[in-house]
Amino acid sequence: MNSKSQLMELTLLVSADHIFIHQCLDSYRTLQSDASPTEKNAAVEQIKHVIGKKLLEHFALEDQRVFPAFEAAYPTGNIPQIIAKLREEHDTMRGLMQPLIEMLSTPNSDPLANQNINRALIGFFIKFREHAVREDDLFAELSEMPDVTTAS
Ligand SMILES: [Fe+2]
Ligand SMILES: [Fe+2]
Repeated sequence: MNSKSQLMELTLLVSADHIFIHQCLDSYRTLQSDASPTEKNAAVEQIKHVIGKKLLEHFALEDQRVFPAFEAAYPTGNIPQIIAKLREEHDTMRGLMQPLIEMLSTPNSDPLANQNINRALIGFFIKFREHAVREDDLFAELSEMPDVTTAS
């Protein structure tokens, strides 16, 4: 069903998405700078777009294609456990997304002006970055794993 090379292609694709965190952090820095209100509004919109759309698509791609491919290719050993934990982290982050979007959609939602938003955003960024590092580590290990191409 999934050859190792197909799986590696998929992991490269989703790994590239992890740059989202850097885009969010750039926008967050804009909010902390003396940028104009227009630039700050654009930064808030960018963060909302990533959290409310791009990351949801990214999680769906991993949940529906990448993780099942790993589970099918490596049903024994520690892979199923790692994947279960990554899925759990997706659920946790999905639960945080809507409240974050709502907070960012309220008027005067400059995180610097609102400690709750500030804390929630930073907490989310840290969670996502740690999660992405765990995935990147797993994807990097793939090159060392045996090729267990399954019949289609
Ligand atoms: Fe993920
Ligand atoms: Fe990811």
